[in-house]
Amino acid sequence: MDKFVVRGGRPLRGSVAVAGSKNAVLPVLAASLLTDEPLIIPNAPRVSDVRSMLKVLESLGSRAVQHEDGRIEVCSAGIPGTEASWDYVRKMRGSVAVLGPLLARTHRACVSLPGGCVIGVRPVDLHIKGMKALGARVDLDGGDVRAEAISGLKGGEMYLGGAQGPTVLGTANVMMAATLAKGTTVIHGAACEPEVVDLGDCLIKMGARIRGLGSPRIEIEGVSRLHGCEHAVIPDRIEAGTFVVAGAITGGAVRVEKCRPDHLMILLERMAEAGLPYDYGADWIATSPYDTRHRRPRPTDVTTLPYPAFPTDLQAQWMALMTTASGMSLVTETIFTDRYMHVAELMRMGANIRRQGACAIVMGPADLSGAQVMASDLRASAALVLAGMVARGTTEIHRVYHIDRGYERIEERLQRLGADIERVDDKSTPPEEGAASDTLTPQRAQRTPSDSAERVPAGR
Ligand code: EPU
Repeated sequence: MDKFVVRGGRPLRGSVAVAGSKNAVLPVLAASLLTDEPLIIPNAPRVSDVRSMLKVLESLGSRAVQHEDGRIEVCSAGIPGTEASWDYVRKMRGSVAVLGPLLARTHRACVSLPGGCVIGVRPVDLHIKGMKALGARVDLDGGDVRAEAISGLKGGEMYLGGAQGPTVLGTANVMMAATLAKGTTVIHGAACEPEVVDLGDCLIKMGARIRGLGSPRIEIEGVSRLHGCEHAVIPDRIEAGTFVVAGAITGGAVRVEKCRPDHLMILLERMAEAGLPYDYGADWIATSPYDTRHRRPRPTDVTTLPYPAFPTDLQAQWMALMTTASGMSLVTETIFTDRYMHVAELMRMGANIRRQGACAIVMGPADLSGAQVMASDLRASAALVLAGMVARGTTEIHRVYHIDRGYERIEERLQRLGADIERVDDKSTPPEEGAASDTLTPQRAQRTPSDSAERVPAGR
C-alpha cells in the first residue's frame, strides 16, 4: 500500500506526453476475443486496469504480454473459455466488455454482474437489452449474466439510450457482438465518445463493416470472421485534461503533448470562460503561467453530459480547480449522480462545498491547507493530487492504488514538471476489502521478473 506525500505551492513547468487511452484500450483488448489471430497495441498505458483486463483475458484462455514500453500482444487462438468470474469482474467494471465478443465467438458467455461502486450503481440492463436484440437468450443467475445464442447472433435494431443517456461500454459490447452476427445491426442512441470511435476503427482494421461511428446511429454489417491487426489507441483525453488542469491550478506553464485537443474542446472552452490562459495546436495544449497570488480563476459552472459535453471523468478535477476560483460555481453531475466522494476530502483541505443531490456548489476561493485525505476512486484521487499541489503545507493521500488504475506513474511525471510529490509506503492504511489484488503499483510491477517483457500470469 502506497500513499502520496504532496507539498503544495510550486507552479508546474515543462512538458508531459499523454499515454494511450485506458478507456479505449480496455474494449480493444476485449475485441481480441473476436479473432484467433494476434492483436497488437503498441501504445497501451501501463496501468493496473490494463493488467486486470489482461488477467481476465488469460483466464479465458488468451495469451497476453505487455512489454516495458506498453506494447501489448494478445492472442485468443482456439476456442476461448466462456466464463469471466466475479474474482476478475469485481476488480474492474470494464471487464464486462468481454460479454459481447465471447457471445459472438463462442455463442455463449457467462460474466459476473459488475455491481455498484463508489461512483454509483453501474447497471448493465442496456448491455443485456442489446444482446437480446441480437437474438441471445440472457438470464441473470446467481449474480452472473448468462447469455446464449445456440445458432449464432443475428443482426437486430435497437435503441440503447438509458435514463442517463447513451452507454459507452454498452455500445462497445453490442458493436463487438454485432461484427460477427448474421445480417445488419443498427444501434440507435449509440455513445459518440472518442473511445467508441477508436474501438470501431480497430474493428474495421480487423475486417468488420461499421458505419456511423461518432454519431448516435451506428450500423454494423456482420461478417463471417475477423482477423488480427495492429492498432494504436487514441491518447487518453482524461489524462490530458488532468495535466491541463494541473498546469492551470498551479498557475504554471505545462505543455501537454501527444494529445487530441479536439477531444477536449469543452474543457478548453470552460478554461477560457474561467479566464485561464492557454494555447493549443494539432496535438498539444499548453497552459500559460500567471501569478496565483494576484489572480484567481473566474467561477465557471460545468454540467457533465455525454461527449462532446463536459466529461464526468474530469468533474472532480474541475471541482478542485474551482475551489481556487473567486466566487461561487456550480458543478452538476448527470452521468453518475453520486460521483462526489472527493467533496468530503476537499473539504478536509479547507474547501467550502455544499452538495445538493446531483449538484455541488463550490464557494471559492478557499485557503486550501494540507491534510490527510483518502483516495476513493480514480478521478477523485486525481482531484486530491491537484488540490494538494496548491494547498499550504503537506497533503498525504492514502490508497493511491486508485490512481494507479488509470494514470501511468503520475507522481514521476508530476515530479518532472516540478511538483513536490513522492510515493511512500503507507503502513497505516489497510486496503479496502477486495481491493488489494487490483492494485499492482508501478513499483511492484517493476519487480515482476522480466527481461524484455512483463508476462501476465494466468489466473492470478
Ligand atoms: N447505464 C445504465 N444501464 C447500462 C449501462 C449504463 O443505466 O446498462 C447508465 C450508467 O449508470 C450511467 C450512464 O448510463 O448513468 C453512463 O454509463 P456508461 O455505460 O456510459 O459508463 P461505462 O461505459 O460503464 C465508461 C467509462 C467510465 C466513464 C463512463 C462515462 C470505461 C472502462 N469506463 O463507463 O470511466 O465515466 O463511460 O463516460 O470506459 C473512469 O475512467 O474513471 C470511468 C469511470
